[in-house]
Amino acid sequence: MDDIVVGPLDLASRVDEALAVQALAFGLTIEEVDVRRHIVLRHLTCPGARALGATTPEGRLVGFVYGMPNDRSHWWSTVVEPYLRANGLDGWLDEAFVITELHVHPAYQNRRIGRALITTITADATEPRSILSAIDKESPARALYRKLGYRDLARHVVFPSAASPYAVMGASLPLPG
Ligand SMILES: CC(C)(COP(=O)(O)OP(=O)(O)OC[C@H]1O[C@@H](n2cnc3c(N)ncnc32)[C@H](O)[C@@H]1OP(=O)(O)O)[C@@H](O)C(=O)NCCC(=O)NCCS
Repeated sequence: MDDIVVGPLDLASRVDEALAVQALAFGLTIEEVDVRRHIVLRHLTCPGARALGATTPEGRLVGFVYGMPNDRSHWWSTVVEPYLRANGLDGWLDEAFVITELHVHPAYQNRRIGRALITTITADATEPRSILSAIDKESPARALYRKLGYRDLARHVVFPSAASPYAVMGASLPLPG
């Protein structure tokens, strides 16, 4: 972490910087960035939506996380609900804080910034659990989530328009460490 500070982020006013980080970390086309901008700004109007940023001493944004309390009427929840229900686990959709996005600039990865972002945002959650989705393959993201106690609630979850299937994961809060 060294000189990187994790703290509250006004994501609405810094959405372009955040999406530039996401584009590098996750791989987004210019068209996808434009779509995401609308989605992020809409998400930020949801009750309880919160964001944290990781910034350099110069104020450059190098990582961010945001999320919100789950709402079963939200698109994401309606997509994952049948998969969780099939596993008898859809109770995870109630009283859960959803991690919607977590990204760290590639030049700043492996410095425990991702870990700090997700543990800090969930530490302030009043919900007893946290849920998220990640591409259903072995990845740094999946490794990080597992290390923090997230377990698979459903796999091979297909989001309309997504190229790859996702895994839905859940952890009890607070996260360890
Ligand atoms: C996932 C991501 C946010 C992690 O951020 P990060 O700052 O690099 O991760 P950290 O340094 O905090 O790593 C924390 C743990 O994750 C695991 N991890 C991180 N990178 C890893 C890698 N390349 N391989 C295996 N495990 C890895 C390690 O176990 C590490 O544990 P440790 O702290 O005990 O060493 C970052 O890799 C990223 O932005 N990836 C691309 C975008 C993405 O996939 N976002 C998630 C969408 S669901």
